[in-house]
Amino acid sequence: MKTILCIGAGYVGGPTMAMIAKKCPDIKVLVVDIDAARIKAWQSDRLPIYEPGLAELVKATLNKNLFFSTDVAAGIREADIIFVSVNTPTKSFGQGAGRAADLQYWEKTAREIKANATSDKIVVEKSTLPVRTAEAMERILHSGNKTVHFEVLSNPEFLAEGTATKDLETPDRILIGGHDTESGRRAVASLVDVYAHWVPRNRILTTSVWSSELSKLAANAFLAQRISSINSLSALCERTEANISEVARAIGMDARIGARFLNASVGFGGSCFKKDILNLVYLCQHYGLTEVAAYWEQVVTMNEYQEDRFARKMSSTMFNTVAGKRIAVFGFAFKADTGDTRESPAIRVCRYLIEERAAVVVTDPKALDNAKKDLADLAGKITYEPDPYKAAEGAHALAVVTDWADYATLDYKRIYDSMIKPAFIFDGRNCLDHKALFEIGFNVHPIGKVPLSHL
Ligand code: NAD
Ligand code: UGA
Repeated sequence: MKTILCIGAGYVGGPTMAMIAKKCPDIKVLVVDIDAARIKAWQSDRLPIYEPGLAELVKATLNKNLFFSTDVAAGIREADIIFVSVNTPTKSFGQGAGRAADLQYWEKTAREIKANATSDKIVVEKSTLPVRTAEAMERILHSGNKTVHFEVLSNPEFLAEGTATKDLETPDRILIGGHDTESGRRAVASLVDVYAHWVPRNRILTTSVWSSELSKLAANAFLAQRISSINSLSALCERTEANISEVARAIGMDARIGARFLNASVGFGGSCFKKDILNLVYLCQHYGLTEVAAYWEQVVTMNEYQEDRFARKMSSTMFNTVAGKRIAVFGFAFKADTGDTRESPAIRVCRYLIEERAAVVVTDPKALDNAKKDLADLAGKITYEPDPYKAAEGAHALAVVTDWADYATLDYKRIYDSMIKPAFIFDGRNCLDHKALFEIGFNVHPIGKVPLSHL
């Protein structure tokens, strides 16, 4: 029986390996992590991450052919294929701080593989990495004693949080980058065989390692660019009485543009878009491509502008002050169907409101624990309330920051009755029925649309 190891049991490692285990009963799948609490959670009924369908997926294979452990060394010894899915955050110190990828976890893993491997291994980059990282990994793996052969492949992950199980089950494509050598081609074929258990072969692309590494950064940059593009136009809509949803629909029906990822919002969040674009920017600067770097950096700048614009609009609309006003922030997760709050626009919005001395109450069905950690330095200044009705009680305004489906079906008459008047709603996701809210009595301020105001 073939053994696959994944180092890193996070948002990518856990779900991806659970799917491989389910689709490949002939393969033993081990997932290891240095975080013992996380490993324990994967083995329990309370998984460390929330993702629709994930609990069922893990339950179906746990301790059959899917195993979680903290014994990294034993896993390395046993595995034929090693996926590395550790975190690659933005560097917060030294050269490239705030842009470059922090590769310390990645390099540590390479050294651990080197130290513990006693037979040939295929090492798969699952984490998102700068182009040519595989070269550094190969150098570490092949330094000193060369009795074991390591073949490094790139196999970036394209799942999105909230839809991870669906994305893994029916991916648009699987991308595998390998070297055009005999051992490289053999390794690529081995990994193709794993995915071919459930992914049609014509959806499994094989490329060079460098193209694969760059394609991952490029895909995220293109996706984020669409959001920044539509968000930039939402600002213009608000000045010209054009409607951003109508504009998005009109341009999205052009098959060359396509309809998806054109929802104007308070801004994009998530652990990867900003990090990966800044990483791309840093790479371009490194290669002296100043104009290319500036082009992509603007996607991040526009996103920050949109987050700030949303927060400032609340203040300017509410008679230029939010000081002392209770504002209920509906949603803290960076998107619906996840408890993840990394880089969530809610963080910046809440910080702005607190700076303006508002009384902020945050509600979210899944992300309150993470919210408390993100805003730990503001403890005592923010209230956390799981029940949206209670959060709204006595509030001057609601700010919808996450597009949780439940928020569209709340009893807004009941909410309106419990609020201070005039009552405002700032819909940072355009996910509510604005006309109905206006008729209840709310002053409604969407993104990129004419506000519906009684004032
Ligand atoms: P994560 O922080 O949730 O998980 C990473 C895990 O790696 C952590 O649990 C950490 O303890 C572990 N780890 C770090 N060093 C280790 C070591 N030396 N040995 C064992 N375990 C170690 O991160 P994530 O969100 O799963 O992202 C992982 C990578 O995948 C990143 O490069 C990210 O850019 C990329 N990615 C993420 C997503 C996503 O939706 N989150 C999607 C596609 C790609
Ligand atoms: C994104 C990509 O979609 C995945 O393909 C990729 O694998 C992943 O990053 C990664 O590398 O980590 P994710 O960040 O989980 O996935 O979620 P998205 O659905 O892309 O949403 C990102 C942010 O953009 C969210 O805050 C979302 O609300 C926002 N968004 C999305 C909009 O504001 N408008 C849209 O039209 C779409």
